Amino acid sequence: MDVAPHRLRDHERAAWEFHRATARWQFNASSSGGQQFTAGREDPDAPYLPLPAPARLPAGLSDAIAARASCRAFTDLPVTLAELSALLAAGYGVGGRSAGDGYTMDDRPVPSGGGLYPLEVSLLVRRVEGLAPGVHHFVPAVHGLELVREVSLPEAFVTYLFMGQHWVARAPVVFVVSFVPGRSLVKYGDRGYRYALLEAGHLVQNLNLAAVALGLGAVNLGGFYDDELAGLLRIDPETEICLYASACGWPAHPGERMASRALAESV
Ligand SMILES: Cc1cc2nc3c(=O)[nH]c(=O)nc-3n(C[C@H](O)[C@H](O)[C@H](O)COP(=O)(O)O)c2cc1C
Repeated sequence: MDVAPHRLRDHERAAWEFHRATARWQFNASSSGGQQFTAGREDPDAPYLPLPAPARLPAGLSDAIAARASCRAFTDLPVTLAELSALLAAGYGVGGRSAGDGYTMDDRPVPSGGGLYPLEVSLLVRRVEGLAPGVHHFVPAVHGLELVREVSLPEAFVTYLFMGQHWVARAPVVFVVSFVPGRSLVKYGDRGYRYALLEAGHLVQNLNLAAVALGLGAVNLGGFYDDELAGLLRIDPETEICLYASACGWPAHPGERMASRALAESV
C-alpha cells in the first residue's frame, strides 16, 4: 500500500513558508552584497576578563569524533578557565589573520557565509574556576569575556528556561549561540537565516568535539524559551536571536555512552 508523502506545505505551514520564502531560483538569485555590516558585539562598559591562550587539544580528531555522544549526567566538578578558553577557541575563536591577494582575513575555526560571522556566544556560568557565576559574553577578536551580569543561576530557574530539562541546570557552563541578523541579512536577505542555522551547527559541533577531546561531555539544546533566555542574556530578541545552546561539564560516567546519555531522565 502506498503511503502518502509527508508534505511540508500541508502540515508544517511555517516551515514551508520559510523554506519557500528563502528558496533561490534563477530570477531571484541576485544579492544586495557590498553593504555595511557591523563587527562582533562588544560592550566597552562591561567588566572584561582576558582568557588564557588556548592550549592544544589533547585528543586527536578521530578519537573525538568516535567518542562523541550527548552527555546529560554531569559531576559537580568545575570547569577551568583554561578548558573554557580551549572550548571557545575551537568553537568561534579567532586563530590569527592571513593576508594575500589584496585581502586580509581572520582565520577562524568555522566557515561563515560571506565571512560575516553573524553569531555570538554567551555563557551561563554556574561553576567555572575564576569566573563569577552569571552571564558572560565571548569577544572572539580579543579572546576574552565580558561580564553581562553576575547572578546565581538557581537550578530551578535554569531548568525552567530550558523547558524542564533539569540536566541543563547541573552543567557547570551552558554555551548559548545567538544570531545578529543585521550582520548578514543585509547581504543575503531572508535566505541568510538558513546560513545562520548552518553556521551555528558548525560552531556547536566544534564545541562538542573540543569538549570530548578535553574529556568533558556536552548535550546540545534546541529546547528553551526564546524570549526568557534572551532577557537573561540582555539581548533584544528583535535584533539578536537565540538559536542553539550546549550544556557542558564533566561526565558522571566517563566512557559509558548510554549512562552518559541518561535517556530515561530525558523523556
Ligand atoms: C538541533 C538539536 C537540538 C537538540 N535539542 C536537545 C534538547 O533540547 N535536549 C536534549 O537533551 N538533547 C537535545 N539534542 C540532542 C539529541 O537528543 C541527541 O543528539 C540525539 O538523541 C542523539 O544522541 P547522541 O547525541 O547521544 O548520539 C538536540 C540535538 C540537536 C542536533
